[in-house]
Amino acid sequence: MQRPYFYDITLRDGNQSLKKPWSLKEKLFVFDKITDLGIKAVEIGFPASSQMDFESCITLAQKAPDDVRVSVLARCHKGDIDRALQAIENAKTPRIHTFITMSPFHMEHVLNKDPDTVAKTAIEAVEYIADNIYKINKNADIEFSIEHFGDCYDNLDFVIDTLKEIVKKGATTINLPNTVERYRPKRILDMIKKVQDNLPSDVTISVHNHNDLGMATATTVEAYFQGVRQLECCLNGLGERTGNTDFYQVALALKNSGIDTGIDYSKIYETALTISSMANVAIYEKAPLIGSEALAHRSGIHQDGAIKTKCMEFGAYRPINPAIIGRYDDEKIGFTSQSGKTAIYDIVKSLKYPITIQESIYLTPFAKEIAQTKGELTPEEVLGLYFDKVCNIEGAFELIVFRPIEKDLYDLLFNFKGERKQVIGRGNGPIDACLNALRKAGFEAKLSDYKQYSLDSDDKGSGASAMSAISVFDKEGNLVIGRAIDTSIVHANVKAIFNAYNQIFK
Ligand code: KIV
Ligand code: ZN
Repeated sequence: MQRPYFYDITLRDGNQSLKKPWSLKEKLFVFDKITDLGIKAVEIGFPASSQMDFESCITLAQKAPDDVRVSVLARCHKGDIDRALQAIENAKTPRIHTFITMSPFHMEHVLNKDPDTVAKTAIEAVEYIADNIYKINKNADIEFSIEHFGDCYDNLDFVIDTLKEIVKKGATTINLPNTVERYRPKRILDMIKKVQDNLPSDVTISVHNHNDLGMATATTVEAYFQGVRQLECCLNGLGERTGNTDFYQVALALKNSGIDTGIDYSKIYETALTISSMANVAIYEKAPLIGSEALAHRSGIHQDGAIKTKCMEFGAYRPINPAIIGRYDDEKIGFTSQSGKTAIYDIVKSLKYPITIQESIYLTPFAKEIAQTKGELTPEEVLGLYFDKVCNIEGAFELIVFRPIEKDLYDLLFNFKGERKQVIGRGNGPIDACLNALRKAGFEAKLSDYKQYSLDSDDKGSGASAMSAISVFDKEGNLVIGRAIDTSIVHANVKAIFNAYNQIFK
């Protein structure tokens, strides 16, 4: 399939909707962001709208590289067109984009003109542009838009007849805007198809979909697959009211569908953040691809799938690998009452603490209970729970003192179900000695493994610097892990043994 021809309207439709339209300096900056993405056609402004916009268009037209077509907007008025011709005169590859409505409602209630007058105005405007623009630049071309094309269902034949004349007068691109999105995508796609079938094949058909009902991306993508070549889009979906078609969504939908777009996707995320701050329009948290929540998973089932496919190109619960758009934050796993063991496991692991799935299962009901009233737990709260419940298991055993007497000999003082016990344990090191002392007191378990971790900082609020994990087999051969943290590794080891014993002897 032919590559889509992305025509960016951020500097015109986007800009005209801003609470504070961009200055020349800002427009120059945004222009570079647009072209850095690999977009080759940019509508740089509406020269008749203000002196500032007129001057910005002159500078942008001059600075634009040869391979980027720059376009300015003009109503079908001689005054607007002359201004546009002046603004674009130094561009290497210029376009004038003119428009008029042909919707019956709009012609009657807004323009107060009958259809024949509107058609004549449009045809004459294009003729006037063609008579003048090619004198300025042979590489120029002309775009004509029927504003409110989406509302022209009942007079489509009139629209098509007028467009045929407009094309004869020199329009090379015919843009069919859904100026206000009111209906289902299929309705406008069928109307577009009728225009495609009735105009000469060398005319470029274009779509420009506003997003009033949230379907602009869908309409634009499907229009492309219906043979529409020019796709008018805005960065961050900026534009009047609920905006224009979002460029990122369209580009990624086409990429996922196997279309070579020529776009540099890796710059998308950074561009989106920059445009948001320049436009002073926040990216809403649920915004596809770029919203802060776009990679957040809170249900247990989604968390499980997301974690299992984390580093894969194709993700269980995400449309793209975020690295494609230069987004490197991990998929976010938040713990709520809807979440499960995998979330606990992932959160504790991502904070660099050891945890097993069994321990996550053990922690899950405690975490759910808190989340039920509090809402989402922060990672630090999950970790706090881990310290509390996994590194400090209360039960029948209570350690009072463990201290060396002489080499390989230790004194152990503890309570079991409230009863004080004192034993001397001998062993090859404190772990061995403690286990031997407990055995002497009648509590048998066999060491399987032990691991020690130094905690690099106590910024997690634990105040501890060592963590120990002691795995023992109980009499039935079940493996039990006890974990503990302490400022001393010897005490972390002994506490870990007690935590394991508290799980075995109840
Ligand atoms: O939405 C619209 O119809 C427009 C035209 C000027 C193309 O922005
Ligand atoms: Zn528009």
